[in-house]
Amino acid sequence: MKTILILSLGLVVAAAAATADDNAPFVWSRASLDLIASGDPVRGEEIAGKVRCSKCHGETGVSEDDETPSIAGQVRAYTYKQLVDYKTGLRDSSDMAKAVRKLSHQDMADLAAYFATQTPEAPAVTEPVPRLVAFGDESRLLLPCAVCHGEKGEGWGDQVPSLAGQKIDHLIETMTAYRTGERANDEFARMRFIAGQLTPDEINEVALHYAAARVEEDDDE
Ligand code: HEC
Ligand code: HEC
Repeated sequence: MKTILILSLGLVVAAAAATADDNAPFVWSRASLDLIASGDPVRGEEIAGKVRCSKCHGETGVSEDDETPSIAGQVRAYTYKQLVDYKTGLRDSSDMAKAVRKLSHQDMADLAAYFATQTPEAPAVTEPVPRLVAFGDESRLLLPCAVCHGEKGEGWGDQVPSLAGQKIDHLIETMTAYRTGERANDEFARMRFIAGQLTPDEINEVALHYAAARVEEDDDE
């Protein structure tokens, strides 16, 4: 019923309906991109304070715990989509389900805008760059990570997250979760396919390449 109504009334009403139904799953559409672009970082900071995102993700989105991902400087639309996916249960985390339970789509757009303005941790400088990152592996149909995630792991466009400066344990855990299919919120199953081709050693190698510098310094001690 609702779908028919939206279709017949056009895009403006579709946008309003999407924000009204805050439990609706994420879809890539002009309406959702407009909503993400409308995110207000000042309001986002207020909401982050109220919901206490900092308890787990650190004061400015740089997490102090290696298993909790950093969210500072992340691609806005990626952050927004993850929040919606946690809310709808497409991505599974009891901590995150609780954190987003009462948030509207606008709140999530505001939060994504706020964390996008924060400074991420510096990535480790690893030389040489792993083969998989720079060249991929044609024999396994693997594109180089850098093609999508950017030359410096900075992310690309709206869909591809930055990896540079991310927590190493999160990188390893989430790639393993893609590998087993436990994390299945990636469009077109792209990361499930890629991680599914990698060995645990390869996952460690690429994770170390992208991870925050602090982690490598700790390892060297
Ligand atoms: C109780 C701890 C906790 C709180 C509070 C919390 N988070 Fe999280 N968050 C986590 C954990 C743990 C994960 C990793 C879960 C997973 O593996 O899917 C996560 C994942 C995320 C991700 C996905 C990151 C990525 O790289 O894919 C985003 C975005 C996020 N949180 C944003 C927020 C925001 C915004 C808030 C406040 C509204 C918040 N979180 C509150 C613990 C928390
Ligand atoms: C074809 C494009 C593409 C290629 C190639 C690619 N990725 Fe991704 N990656 C994505 C997209 C899109 C997402 C976001 C998926 C989602 O929403 O879950 C993602 C997500 C990720 C995440 C989750 C980030 C987080 O914060 O939780 C990690 C880790 C990751 N990719 C690592 C890699 C590594 C390492 C490689 C190379 C071995 C690689 N990716 C190659 C497109 C790609």
